[in-house]
Amino acid sequence: MTALLEVENLRVTYAGAQRDVAAVAGVSFAVAPGEVVALVGESGSGKTATALAIIGLLGESARIEPGSAIRFEGRDLLRLGEPEFRDLRGRRIAMVFQDAGAALNPVMRVGEQVAEAALVHGERDKARARAMAVAMLDRVGLPDAARQARAYPHELSGGMKQRVMLAIALLLKPSLVIADEPTSALDVTVQRQVLSLLLELQRESGTAVLMITHDLGVVAETCSRALVMRRGELVESATVDDLFHAPRHAYTRELLAAMPRLARPVPPG
Ligand SMILES: Nc1ncnc2c1ncn2[C@@H]1O[C@H](COP(=O)(O)OP(=O)(O)OP(=O)(O)O)[C@@H](O)[C@H]1O
Ligand SMILES: [Mg+2]
Repeated sequence: MTALLEVENLRVTYAGAQRDVAAVAGVSFAVAPGEVVALVGESGSGKTATALAIIGLLGESARIEPGSAIRFEGRDLLRLGEPEFRDLRGRRIAMVFQDAGAALNPVMRVGEQVAEAALVHGERDKARARAMAVAMLDRVGLPDAARQARAYPHELSGGMKQRVMLAIALLLKPSLVIADEPTSALDVTVQRQVLSLLLELQRESGTAVLMITHDLGVVAETCSRALVMRRGELVESATVDDLFHAPRHAYTRELLAAMPRLARPVPPG
């Protein structure tokens, strides 16, 4: 297997007011093209820091320690300059954040925000970018997409905003989408809709997904492999079958035991 993404000995440190926090403390894993991999673990275990390191969006207060390596499509991301990274982001790697409301620009029509993704990556023709945007908004299930493309984010529901985020992420058919709790702000029915949509589009275009979630039910249903993080370290990497039926690490067993409702089918009645 030629990996799409290879993370090797990744270490991320946040500079705190009192002391530094080792958010990611030497994590290694790989994702194959088209694979859907879960990244799970308790709050604060370093999942988002790992994702932000991959997509090059760690803030000023974080540093990636020497000895870390992130290879994507054969390139060493930690050696890319910001202009090259900007070109990669959106076009080859995209990220869907938990809070679409915060990630969208409040004073820009959503259709324009989707079109923008095409325009910053070389599409010169504005009308064509707009048409691509409307087609994609329609594809992600925004009702009456041509009209709703003219809406501002505050005029849309949470689920609709998350669909707009998906449209932005998937517009240019990236080879990797990182979804960080993409649906946890939504109610359960809408969560299901948005997730199945993401996976439908994933299958269509062969995109790999790194799915960060707290929901082991989602992991069981959607992922083939799972990575379990705890306190900045990867404590388990297993197929989803093995994770649920033969978890090796005590922490993974704890995690499973803490979520019996999600891992077990609901009894009738
Ligand atoms: N901007 C920041 N400044 C300082 N410390 C941070 C910052 N962001 C995260 N951290 C710390 O880094 C560690 C890892 O955080 P991270 O956000 O990656 O956790 P997570 O696994 O995504 O958690 P959650 O499931 O709650 O989203 C935590 O100890 C957190 O407090
Ligand atoms: Mg997080």
